Amino acid sequence: MKVLITGGTNGMGKGVAKVLADADNQAHEIVILCRSKELGEALIKELNDETSNNKISIILCDLTKFSDVKRAIIEMYEKHEFLDGIFINAGLGYAAKRIETEDGFDAHFQVNYLSQFMLTLNLLDLLKKSKKGGRVIFNVTRRGEIFWDDMQMEKKWSYERGIHQAMVAKRMLLVKLHRMFREIEDSKISFIGFEISKTVWSNQINIIPGYMRIMVTLMKFFGTFISIEECGRIMKPLFVESQQDSLKRSGTLITWKKNQFMDIKEDLAVLNKEMQDKLWKISLELCADEKTNQIAESFQNR
Ligand SMILES: NC(=O)c1ccc[n+]([C@@H]2O[C@H](COP(=O)([O-])OP(=O)(O)OC[C@H]3O[C@@H](n4cnc5c(N)ncnc54)[C@H](OP(=O)(O)O)[C@@H]3O)[C@@H](O)[C@H]2O)c1
Repeated sequence: MKVLITGGTNGMGKGVAKVLADADNQAHEIVILCRSKELGEALIKELNDETSNNKISIILCDLTKFSDVKRAIIEMYEKHEFLDGIFINAGLGYAAKRIETEDGFDAHFQVNYLSQFMLTLNLLDLLKKSKKGGRVIFNVTRRGEIFWDDMQMEKKWSYERGIHQAMVAKRMLLVKLHRMFREIEDSKISFIGFEISKTVWSNQINIIPGYMRIMVTLMKFFGTFISIEECGRIMKPLFVESQQDSLKRSGTLITWKKNQFMDIKEDLAVLNKEMQDKLWKISLELCADEKTNQIAESFQNR
């Protein structure tokens, strides 16, 4: 399998990268989309040393910038003829205050959702060329809402609101993509939302303020957290299972409990077709990118 992982230099993305790099006699190729060349190269070295897998590469992209996303898309097509999977994972977590990106968006909205909306749509053609069954796994959590009147959270901001709004947006996107692809007979790509049921001990520990760090360190002592490697082991089947099995999960929100994947009942607001279409339209307008709009139009015209 050839898998692109956004935000693979830390946390859950790194956990999946480590497990996939070592799995199945190091058969899998991993492309890490990351914003730091230094961290990306260090990860290649770490995975080479630990697993001897020499099929690890990086694509540099800061998801706060559409210019970077567009460049990364071009680089992906220059370097790769197909993709078997994408892990839409990169995310901004804790932040002390609202950050506006140079493209003029709330940073949580752009990094966790909008830039990855653009990336996903533009990489669908590579997934269509997969011989093993293209799939997109979205790292999501349940709950949250779209702030239709204040999507950039200029009136009311908190980092939790930013994270949760992006989660809902990703879930709406995956359900819409699933629906559109089911309507296209010969296109078999699966779109799956995965929620990790335990908290992963990620790089967030180094970002949160001191008082929170003391609290979570205590929680770690009581076994509340799992390691990034354990998270990778849980998620691995979603990236390597057969196309048939992957397609059965497409369009759903799942978690891992009692040693198996389980469905989570999706919110009616997320399943609402009108709301999905509304968010899709707004996202396209905000991307204001000719290529992304052409891709979206190509679905409407079928
Ligand atoms: N940890 C959990 O228990 C948990 C549970 C449910 C969902 N999640 C979700 O999982 C995702 C990953 O979180 P995590 O806990 O693994 O956090 P993390 O350790 O902080 O990792 C976040 C990853 O996203 C990357 N990233 C952040 N901003 C970026 C940008 N502007 N451009 C490109 N990449 C960027 C980071 O790059 P750098 O390495 O350069 O910082 C890092 O690789 C998030 O969406 C989070 O909400 C986490």
